[in-house]
Amino acid sequence: MTWSDAPQLPFGPNPGPGRLISIDGLDGSGKTTLTASLRDHLTATGVPVLTTRLPTTQMRETSFFRLLRDQGRTDLVDPVAFEVAYMVDRIQHCRTVIAPALREGRTVITDRYALSSIGTLLLRLPEMRRTVLDALFSDAWFIDLCRRLIRPDVSFVLWTEPETGARRLRSRPGEADAGFDPLEYAELQRLLLELAAANDMVPVDSGGPPEEVLAACLAHLEGSRRPARHRGGRR
Ligand SMILES: Nc1ncnc2c1ncn2[C@@H]1O[C@H](COP(=O)(O)OP(=O)(O)O)[C@@H](O)[C@H]1O
Ligand SMILES: [Mg+2]
Repeated sequence: MTWSDAPQLPFGPNPGPGRLISIDGLDGSGKTTLTASLRDHLTATGVPVLTTRLPTTQMRETSFFRLLRDQGRTDLVDPVAFEVAYMVDRIQHCRTVIAPALREGRTVITDRYALSSIGTLLLRLPEMRRTVLDALFSDAWFIDLCRRLIRPDVSFVLWTEPETGARRLRSRPGEADAGFDPLEYAELQRLLLELAAANDMVPVDSGGPPEEVLAACLAHLEGSRRPARHRGGRR
């Protein structure tokens, strides 16, 4: 499969003064681990933090979501409708959870964000894969609706060797038999990194131990801190 160049996603402004940090990456890349370690580190230094995740718990619990994720029922759930629902979930979550916290001055760390529909589900469902990658790379509706999402101050995209991702996934409770083709995992990750590169997202090699991944992200956060006088103004 081929896609034209990755688009720049036209996110909307941050209602500030809080900072929005997003963490995307394939399953097993270490997003949830980094979300927690970043939260613990920032909280210990006195920063008020809200951690959250996408898709929301509410969406994960719908029968719509389960039919596709757990049973692969593309006969009952249209892949485009599913992708639209992911976008609605993001937009609503920005409105009801992320924006209020940013206005209160909290740092919001979101475990998956704009690229949240790129996951290993796509390796199991080719029809879904086509739909999601079309949306992210070329569908006008997707790109246009990104305006309803808040531009992250920093977006991390974690990547790791497919074998490492697979090993980590299998180590998680209930996923002992999580299996996928390493070549397909690598291909999906390559597309994710292409989107990251086109959107000033920060690729982070998460193959090392958790402390190393955290340190790499903290170094980047320090370097990208907005000066106080620029915060909450135009953005
Ligand atoms: N940097 C790391 N080094 C070693 N193990 C890790 C690292 N990051 C995460 N893990 C482990 O790998 C598994 C998957 O990590 P997780 O953070 O849940 O990934 P994701 O949320 O991206 O799917 C977990 O068991 C976690 O403890
Ligand atoms: Mg996770």
